[in-house]
Amino acid sequence: MWQAEVRVDLDAIRDNVATLRARTSAEVLVAVKADGYGHGLVPSARAALAGGATWLGVATLDEALTLRRAGVDAPVLAWLITPGLPLHEGVRAGVDLSAATPELVDELAAAARLAGRPARVHLKLDTGLSRGGAVADDWPILLEAAAKAQAGGDIEVAGVWSHFACADDPGHESVDRQLAAFHAGLAVATGFGITPRYRHIANSAATLTRPDTHFDLVRVGIAAYGLSPIAGERYGLRPAMTARARIMLTKRVPAGQGVSYGLTYVTPRETTLAVVPLGYGDGVPRHASSTGPIRVGGTTARIAGRVCMDQVVIDVGNEPVSAGDVAILFGPGSSGEPTADDWAAATGTINYEIVTRFGSSRVPRHYDGEVAR
Ligand SMILES: Cc1ncc(COP(=O)(O)O)c(C=O)c1O
Repeated sequence: MWQAEVRVDLDAIRDNVATLRARTSAEVLVAVKADGYGHGLVPSARAALAGGATWLGVATLDEALTLRRAGVDAPVLAWLITPGLPLHEGVRAGVDLSAATPELVDELAAAARLAGRPARVHLKLDTGLSRGGAVADDWPILLEAAAKAQAGGDIEVAGVWSHFACADDPGHESVDRQLAAFHAGLAVATGFGITPRYRHIANSAATLTRPDTHFDLVRVGIAAYGLSPIAGERYGLRPAMTARARIMLTKRVPAGQGVSYGLTYVTPRETTLAVVPLGYGDGVPRHASSTGPIRVGGTTARIAGRVCMDQVVIDVGNEPVSAGDVAILFGPGSSGEPTADDWAAATGTINYEIVTRFGSSRVPRHYDGEVAR
């Protein structure tokens, strides 16, 4: 008997990846960072590979090593590499690593010598996001260092890559600008004798809307989990995560009753209140106070008043709701339950954050589907 759980349909992840794969002739990398956007690092990776992904992407070296320890031997790229990490462990484990400075190239070369094998490196160009990556002025310096380390046998430049700022806003002028900057950066790389097997810049949004950005590899995250990066479009994807809990307690209260901390919600009439044992300690955003939708029985209620650490209260009116009934916060939406998109809209955030919040929480995560067996 469960009290609250996150269910992840791994077949949905597999099928979404297959759907994305059918839209491109490039190879597909699925981003499984941040615990697979809350869906589970290793199970999501296996489902992605079952759907035809040939690469996995993570932010940290630790995430990459966790995949390797779990026996996942597919190509993995880790892209958030700060100086001073034990990079030889990544090199030894056959993890591809991103570099954006000549200093990191030097560290990778040293790590390769320690590991006894060349480091596979993806050089990152900042084409306009102004986050990671070398800016155009520094790009030749990075390329020179990489070409030298490659000639010395310490590194192999497997990729040149970048990341979009506004691909989720199709038609945004920055997409073309970044794409042109990427082409220009690739041309400069060629001048240094660097012609990598993998050129990549597309995220889910660009994969879905801009085939001219696909190059040799697309890096999809949110779409693999069945959520659209572009508001109002579904692209035939199936959301993989459901978050739900059993009602802990119901009570009948009169009109005028204040509810939850601060008594910010006051019952407008005699009504039934139901307590749901999930709170901000589990991933429910506190911003969902008075707004988060929850489905129970045949009705969708809003959270009544503040989200607490471990619980929320909903006002279900005269619905026949009892302790033990299942309350669904969000799911695929196919049975009338709210979706992660509904939660994002209710709390002023993006669907990415809603599912990711339920990742490393105390709520047990259970897996469904053939891939799970
Ligand atoms: C570098 C990089 N590539 C690809 C992705 C996947 O993005 P999305 O989930 O929008 O497809 C991310 C996620 O933020 C990322 O950081």
